[in-house]
Parts: sequence; structure tokens; C-alpha cells
Amino acid sequence: MTNPKTTILALAAALAFAAAPAFAEGDAGNGAKLFKRKCFVCHTIEQGAKNKVGPNLWAVFGNKPGMAEGYKYSKSYLAAAEKGLVWDDKAIDAYMIDPRKFIREASGDPKGKSKMTVKIKKDTERVDIIAYVKTQK
Ligand code: HEC
Repeated sequence: MTNPKTTILALAAALAFAAAPAFAEGDAGNGAKLFKRKCFVCHTIEQGAKNKVGPNLWAVFGNKPGMAEGYKYSKSYLAAAEKGLVWDDKAIDAYMIDPRKFIREASGDPKGKSKMTVKIKKDTERVDIIAYVKTQK
């Protein structure tokens, strides 16, 4: 007989998988172009590149906020990291829609600051940018 505990665990895993929203796969090539146009003024993304106005974004995907060495982040980013925020597809997507609003929610500080205020309105652009950012790790 199958161990009921194993069955429950397998069921829970299957449910969690089914509940995870499918995230559209973007076009990383177009994302690279968009990154140059919309992010590069403030961000480098190559490994070991300098921080600009914004932090270097190498390996930001899958990591928690505030990891770029030598960059002075707003406190709300570090607070969000402590609360368990990880930059996955959903988080970066919501962040690009409205960085200040997102970081306020993620840090639990309604007055939290964000030095980044740039918003990317087009869904397809955000998806492509994320596809590119993912490759940089
Ligand atoms: C006008 C400058 C500027 C532009 C343009 C900009 N950012 Fe930022 N970004 C920042 C700054 C500044 C921060 C740090 C915010 C803080 O500490 O308050 C930041 C932080 C971030 C973070 C969090 C990094 C971390 O280590 O936790 C991500 C992710 C990010 N930006 C992605 C992007 C993407 C993608 C684009 C292009 C669509 C972009 N940014 C465009 C200035 C900018």
C-alpha cells in the first residue's frame, strides 16, 4: 500500500504546480534591445560591471533585492529582502509596472522609498525584458 503521507505530499505538489500562473515566455533578443533603450542609462547587467545610478543587475533574477556589491539601496529594498522577496518573473513584472508601489507593498512600509520610478507600461515589453534579464546570470 502507498504511504498516505507520500500521497498527500504528491497531491499538494501537483496542486501547487497547477495553481502557479503560467508566465509567458518572452523574446530575450528583443528584451536585450529594450534593456539598452530603457534600462541601460541607469543599469549595467554584465558580471562585475559598475553600478551606475542604479545597481548592477547581474544575476538579479532569482535573487533577493539589495545584492549588488557596493550599491547603497533604499531601506525599503533591504526590508523587502528580509520579508522574503525574491526577484522572480512575477516580482520583476509587478515591479516594472510601478516600482514604488511594488516596493512599498513588498517591504510593508507604506512610505517606503524607491529611487527607481521608471514604469514599463507594455506587457509584452516587460515579458521580453524579463526573458533577457534571466539570461544574465
Ligand atoms: C532612471 C534610472 C533607472 C532606470 C531607467 C531603470 N532603473 Fe532600475 N533601478 C534604479 C535605481 C536607482 C534602483 C535602486 C532603487 C533604490 O535603491 O531605491 C533600481 C533598482 C532596480 C532593481 C532592483 C535591483 C536589486 O538589486 O534589488 C531592478 C530589478 C531594476 N531596477 C530593474 C530595472 C529594469 C529592468 C529597467 C528597465 C526597464 C530599469 N530598472 C530602469 C534606477 C533605474
